[in-house]
Amino acid sequence: MSTLGSMQIRVVDDVDFATVGADAVLSGLTGAGACLGVATGGTPLRLYRELAHRTECGAIDLSSVSVVALDEYVGLSSSDPRSYASYVHGCIAGPLRIDPAATFVPDGAAADPDAEAREYEATIVGLGGVDVQIAGLGTNGHLAFNEPGTPIDGPCHVVTLSERTRRDNARYFDRRGDVPLRAITQGLGTIRRARSIVLLASGAHKGPALAAALHGPVTTDVPASVLQTHPNVTVVADRAAAALL
Ligand code: PGA
Repeated sequence: MSTLGSMQIRVVDDVDFATVGADAVLSGLTGAGACLGVATGGTPLRLYRELAHRTECGAIDLSSVSVVALDEYVGLSSSDPRSYASYVHGCIAGPLRIDPAATFVPDGAAADPDAEAREYEATIVGLGGVDVQIAGLGTNGHLAFNEPGTPIDGPCHVVTLSERTRRDNARYFDRRGDVPLRAITQGLGTIRRARSIVLLASGAHKGPALAAALHGPVTTDVPASVLQTHPNVTVVADRAAAALL
């Protein structure tokens, strides 16, 4: 393990990625009623499987935890299998035996997405904030769906997705044109208020963004660089993603 400012950086073999990530998450989830912020990309899936395995074995009990998602596509209802609500319920809340009533995802089908974003911010505040936020990293340096140019202190808001992000996420849709144009996302200000953050990066394609986020200047051009300003961040990166560090 190494440190960079107040960040802890764990560069791990692929085989250890899920267990090291799960340990980092669990170390911040102390006490009943903790709040876990979840990312819904491909990277954390192994970590959720590891947590599910530990739940099945009886090694951990997360049933009193509440879960909040980072983001949701505008235009997809919670029953749409491509929605992040479906991901959260199918890959996280169900396997981790978390109460569906304690599981929060912005409503992508809301008639007024801007109002929904404001309500989602209020929901997170009402929960007492996030104890541990799991985050992935976009190849363009985005954090949740905060694309380059996003103010570093903003609340939950509606964002227009960049072409790069829509291309990266097209694999989850039948056609590239089906990828929604907009999303509701936690803002960088929302994410920075989490008491701890576990940033996951896997694969060589994340290398340039990870190096820019950790070693470059704090800039809105690389939204994940705001993590340098947070007091409690653990980065778990496999060797391919960490190659440029
Ligand atoms: P991924 O997405 O985990 O599917 O690579 C990360 C992100 O875009 O934030």
